[in-house]
Order: sequence, then C-alpha cells, then structure tokens
Amino acid sequence: VKTIGVLTSGGDAPGMNAAIRAVVREAIGKGMDVKGIYQGYKGLLNAEIVDLSARDVSDIISRGGTILYTARSQEFRTPEGQQKAAEVCRQHGIEGLVVIGGDGSFAGAGKLAELGINTVGIPGTIDLDIACTDYTIGFDTAVNTAMEAIDKVRDTSTSHERCSIIEVMGRNAGYIALWCGIANGAEDILLPESYDYDEQKLINHIIEMRKRGKKHHIIINAEGIGHSSSMARRIEAATGVETRATILGHMQRGGSPTCRDRVYASMMGSYAVDLLAEGKTNRVVGVKGGEWVDFDIAEALKMQKSLPEYMVRVAKALSI
Ligand code: F6P
Repeated sequence: VKTIGVLTSGGDAPGMNAAIRAVVREAIGKGMDVKGIYQGYKGLLNAEIVDLSARDVSDIISRGGTILYTARSQEFRTPEGQQKAAEVCRQHGIEGLVVIGGDGSFAGAGKLAELGINTVGIPGTIDLDIACTDYTIGFDTAVNTAMEAIDKVRDTSTSHERCSIIEVMGRNAGYIALWCGIANGAEDILLPESYDYDEQKLINHIIEMRKRGKKHHIIINAEGIGHSSSMARRIEAATGVETRATILGHMQRGGSPTCRDRVYASMMGSYAVDLLAEGKTNRVVGVKGGEWVDFDIAEALKMQKSLPEYMVRVAKALSI
C-alpha cells in the first residue's frame, strides 16, 4: 500500500484529531503518502481530498473536534454511492482508508472493502457503544466534561433543596449516564438498558430520600430515555419538591481531549496503519482487556455489548 486516506465520520469526538495525527505520521514514517478526506463519506463522494504532511497535523493533538470535519451522507448509503466512492478512491490512488467513527461508519468501510479498497475502522464516539472494544475515543473527555457540569448543577440544586434532572448524551446507550451517575454521586440514574418507565417508583424514592434528610436529589437521565423537561414538571407536581431539568447537549462533544483520549487515539491510529501496511482490510481496531486488537468488520458489527451489571449495582448501593 503506497497511499492511504483518512476521514472522520458521524458525530465528532474529542481525540479524533489525535487519531488523525497518528495515522498521518505513522504512515509517513512507513514511507506512505497520506490524503485527508474532508466531511467523511460525503466529502469522499465530492472528492474533497488534500495531501497531508507530518507538519499539517502539528498542534492538533490537544484540539477538540476534527480538522477534517465530519458529516452523515445519505448518498453513500446507496450501492451507487458506494461504487462512486470506491471509484474516487481509485482516481486519487487511495488504496487503503482509515475511517474514524462509529458503527454506521464501519458498515460503510465494510462496503468499500468489498469494492476493493482496503479499509480499517477506528472507534471514535463519546457514546462507548461499540461492542468490539472496551474503549472508544472521546468517552473519557465527554464524561469528564459532563461530570464537571453536573457538579455545578449539584451546587445550586443543594442550595435550593431541589431535585435536578440532568440529561446526558449517549444515543441508545447508558454508559455516559452510568459513569456520571457514579462520579457525581447521583441519587438516581435512568439507563435506557434497564429503565422500566415506572415514574411512581422514582417519585417515591425522592420523597423517601427527602425524609432521610437529603438536601438535593440528582437524577442523571440518559438521552435514550429523554423527556427530562416534562418529567421534571410531573415530579414537581407529585412530590412538591421544586424540580429543574438541564439538558447538557453538545457541550459534551467538545473540548480538549483528556490524556486518556489522546493516548488511545494515538495508539489506535498507529495500529490501524500497521494493519494497512500488512495488507489487511475490512478490520476494526479495538482494545480488549488492555490488549490492542482488531476484528473483521462484519463480525464486529454483530457483537453485542451490555452495561456492566456490577457497576449498576454499585451505583445504586452508594446512593443511599
Ligand atoms: O454519537 C454521538 C452523539 O453525540 C450521541 O450521543 C447523540 O445521540 C448524537 O451524537 C447527536 O447527534 P447530532 O450531533 O447529529 O445531533
């Protein structure tokens, strides 16, 4: 493989820039040329492609977002779009492609692999919802950002002796909610994986905690459950406890990546290039039990992941 491309796709995540830097420098170190593709698969279809040198990725390791921009492309989901994308790769001499993103982006990489472009995926999402890996780039920064914001809400919640519902991102997964729930000492954590939608239980819990002398009641609500504002209104009416909802939103996706995100991104970026250099294709990079691993994309997409039950149990045990 003489020339590789790199793109970021789907929702951005802090650490994507560190991964781009690692891909570029590892490849250049191996004597390859590197092309940066703007705006994910959408930019690939429009041939928004530039040469990247080692200097082009200077000073980006500490920056949030992605210098290559990102997008979601409807056209690329069609067989015609995929054919066109493979053709654009061939026209630009791109024999190998590193795709930094989530499951949807990997499915696209799998299609390109079928069409003769060697592809490797790197898990980049704040949601931690990729089954083939214990870690996804961006999660650590996102949970730290959310944790700091929730600490601030907690201060005012205590002063006013309120109940606060704080909604965190995660799409259909509850990892951010669970980690913040533990880190922020929440009284309740609503997880899409296990929430039974019995609001009366939640109301009873708030009343019981009040009787036990709790000054605030922090509820971390996962985006996958949502409806925090209407939930707050119902809880206030049923408990008589003033209740406010805060939706943290996209602030969780920004900011300078933590050390963990920079290091994992750097390792995964280099590992992806190692795989391409060995002629491998249709792979997703991951980390399992502290080891760097890679899986066939189709196999990776079939894998299932569930919230660690022990963590859920501990979160409950510590909220009394
Ligand atoms: O996948 C990352 C994520 O931030 C999810 O947590 C959230 O559901 C989604 O992306 C939001 O997407 P958008 O930026 O398109 O609103």
